[in-house]
Amino acid sequence: MKNDIERVLVDEAVIQKRLDSMAKEIEKDFPEGPVVVIILLKGALVFAADLLRRVPRQLSIECLNVASYHGGLESSGQVDFLDRHFPVVKGMHVLLLDDILDTGRTLAAVAKRLKEEGAIAVHTGVLLAKDKKRAENVQADYVGFEIGDEFVVGYGLDYKGRYRNLPYVGVLKLSAAT
Ligand code: IMP
Ligand code: MG
Repeated sequence: MKNDIERVLVDEAVIQKRLDSMAKEIEKDFPEGPVVVIILLKGALVFAADLLRRVPRQLSIECLNVASYHGGLESSGQVDFLDRHFPVVKGMHVLLLDDILDTGRTLAAVAKRLKEEGAIAVHTGVLLAKDKKRAENVQADYVGFEIGDEFVVGYGLDYKGRYRNLPYVGVLKLSAAT
């Protein structure tokens, strides 16, 4: 697996340190009272697990399956909700977590749906944000790291379902992108 990585972009210790400060920002911003965290599967799983254990608040955790990439290197442009049931968020403060902000379509579509379902406020957090023009006018409230516009894997992010368990974020070798 390591042999498929061209270079490490954000190493493990740097990620963990940044999560400490992100958790503090989140703790400071959220009002006392019930908060629902929505984890976008599967990419945000590793990030969310490490981040949320640092937030000393009463949280409930829900997961959502959405598809936007369909396994390739390019966004398909369409966001599909794959779950039979949408989490109950009416009257709740919501923290929506994803692995990476790329075109912005995923966060925009999910945040819109959460508001339609009656969430009072939706804050968004991503581990990574690509430095590029977004298709949607969307920003994340919490961004771990700004990165260049290149395809990355690890720490939850995949290429064709692989590399999510790498403990760091790295750039895939072109030869591995088959
Ligand atoms: P967006 O809707 O274009 O912002 O894309 C967000 C989704 O695309 C993320 O949840 C990721 O699953 C996927 N994605 C975007 N860029 C990358 C990348 O560099 N590596 C792996 N997955 C990515
Ligand atoms: Mg993905």
